[in-house]
Amino acid sequence: MTAGIEVEGLGRTYPGGVEAVRSVDLSVRPGEVFGFLGPNGAGKTTTVRMLTTLLAPTRGRALVAGHDVARDPERVRLAIGVALQESDLDNLQTGRELLAFHARLHGMGRRSAAQRTDELLELVDLTGAAGRQVRTYSGGMRRRLDLAIALVHRPRVLFLDEPTTGLDPASRLTVWDEVRRLNREDGLTVFLTTQYLEEADVLAGRVAIIAGGTIVADGTPAGLKASIGADVVTVAVPAADRPGAERLLAALPGVQRIQVTGDGVTLYVPDGPGTVARLVTALNAAEVPIGAVSTSSPTLDDVFLQKTGQRLAAAA
Ligand SMILES: Nc1ncnc2c1ncn2[C@@H]1O[C@H](COP(=O)(O)OP(=O)(O)OP(=O)(O)O)[C@@H](O)[C@H]1O
Ligand SMILES: [Mg+2]
Repeated sequence: MTAGIEVEGLGRTYPGGVEAVRSVDLSVRPGEVFGFLGPNGAGKTTTVRMLTTLLAPTRGRALVAGHDVARDPERVRLAIGVALQESDLDNLQTGRELLAFHARLHGMGRRSAAQRTDELLELVDLTGAAGRQVRTYSGGMRRRLDLAIALVHRPRVLFLDEPTTGLDPASRLTVWDEVRRLNREDGLTVFLTTQYLEEADVLAGRVAIIAGGTIVADGTPAGLKASIGADVVTVAVPAADRPGAERLLAALPGVQRIQVTGDGVTLYVPDGPGTVARLVTALNAAEVPIGAVSTSSPTLDDVFLQKTGQRLAAAA
């Protein structure tokens, strides 16, 4: 039996007419960490809710672990673990009590529930805090407990909706480690949504970028970056001068693409350093005031910018 995900033409229009997800096609292989990347309101949670049987699609089809989410939701639920963006942990229980409760919900006897609870506490590094009420946990500890709860019944596919949003950098790294370990050691398939490019870059073997309910790019992070096929040169320019700067810079040799952004102008060129020199000369000659100038290799943010005309980093 497969632990993959196959999605065709999946869409959801909410009552009232919001077309949150237009038509999503994607395929996640068993044992893969798949990153679903997009800004606020892109349709990530709506997609996850459809794939986890919490929300009915209004069109298209999705198979999760080989089962159709609309026709066979029970089987899908047995195969998956879900940690949602908005969790509602019971604050008065301790971490250990909550985990044991969920293990019992999944039909385990008292003894095996206790054993599974200890294993999971160890796994997410909460053994020391297991006897404390959840209301005393930090944001990172709660996310880790959410993760443990999602794993109680040993699912083969794990859905994580923005697992690190709002966490401090250290807690974020801990969650990343857990996800990597689960994938590596247990071969878990992971479908992970995020607004953080770095997170997708670090964790995911493949990513899809969703914007406005539509997938605008997909592939490996390296492949997507290489698809830009250029150095990225950015120059900060005051808003009023950006259209003029864009006109001037578009005339520089080798410019493949030029884009006005929230803080200046971005150019895609074969020769970054050479272009920086020419750019400064051209803008100085035209008396356009400039701020920081930099050249870099493309990032997933550049992929996002090229596909949507917006920077994801600014949206996040
Ligand atoms: N229950 C609902 N009823 C109507 N519209 C909704 C509902 N839930 C979400 N939407 C709308 O659907 C669109 C997609 O929302 P969704 O929550 O899927 O985005 P998201 O990518 O998860 O965003 P975020 O990063 O902020 O969590 C948004 O325009 C949102 O306002
Ligand atoms: Mg969301």
